[in-house]
Amino acid sequence: MQTIAVLTSGGDSPGMNAALRAVVRTAIYAGKSVIGIRRGYEGLLESDMFELNVYSVADILQRGGTILCTARSEAMKTREGVKKAAAILDASGVSSLVVIGGDGSYKGALALSAEGVPVACLPATIDNDVPSTDYTIGFDTAVNTAIDALSKIRDSSYSNDRVDVIEVMGRGSGNIALQTGIAGGAEAVIVPEAKPDMDFIVRRILAGKRRGKLHSICVYAEGAGDAAQFCEEIAQRASVKVKMTRLGYVQRGGSPSAFDRVLASHMGNMAVESLLAGRKSQAICLKGGRYSEMALEEAAAAPYRFQEEALRLAMVLSI
Ligand code: F6P
Repeated sequence: MQTIAVLTSGGDSPGMNAALRAVVRTAIYAGKSVIGIRRGYEGLLESDMFELNVYSVADILQRGGTILCTARSEAMKTREGVKKAAAILDASGVSSLVVIGGDGSYKGALALSAEGVPVACLPATIDNDVPSTDYTIGFDTAVNTAIDALSKIRDSSYSNDRVDVIEVMGRGSGNIALQTGIAGGAEAVIVPEAKPDMDFIVRRILAGKRRGKLHSICVYAEGAGDAAQFCEEIAQRASVKVKMTRLGYVQRGGSPSAFDRVLASHMGNMAVESLLAGRKSQAICLKGGRYSEMALEEAAAAPYRFQEEALRLAMVLSI
């Protein structure tokens, strides 16, 4: 019988469990058996695997994190690591592999496919920085978590006549910051992709104060630089009280939003159907409102596009 293996890799994101459930149930529905690999590629290299059935994925649709656990693997960046992983899959009777993770996980999957392992990848990361898809699994939930925090901080900010800087995740991309800033009505959004115009931000805060505005909110993506230094500069130049909140890993946890659950369910189902149809190296995408597939090689090489228009929108609306 054909056996499909599945792993979650890289930073965990809400909705990974929903994707896993869809993979397992689609495969079992088609009469295939499924093996779960613990701790991503690290677990694969240690043959840390177990059989999954319909009940193994019961009651996980609504749970954050990943029941398979995850890891970032340095070994999979080496040729020996990839060869060893492919050999382990072969020896375990695995006929194909579903990888649930971000762009780093895609690279590992591509290397495995070059060793002859049929693979299908699902984009799952809170950063929404996988270029082949408009949305990654977990992004919507992370943004909602950040907006919830922003709203609470705004209550305190207003009550204390203060500027609040909220640092959100995003080492290389400002997507969480941008959407949180737009949805939360922030006065400034600072992202790694664009140098902040400090004069402009200070002018805007001061203009707000002159109009009697009691507080301002800045959303700062962690990869943009040093948020604490940014706070100091604002405090000095605008003569205002500034407080900083680093949201951190709270953004990676929590029950996935309805959007992420539906996204994960469609993508998990499509990944298995792609493999069952005999396609060997695919990435599942949501592009222009349609679910589709793309050659993994093309997906892994696609250039990242910064959403300049979102930064402009955040700036225009913060007037
Ligand atoms: O890849 C997602 C992400 O949450 C980034 O936004 C963040 O910079 C990074 O993971 C931090 O993850 P870790 O501490 O696990 O390396």
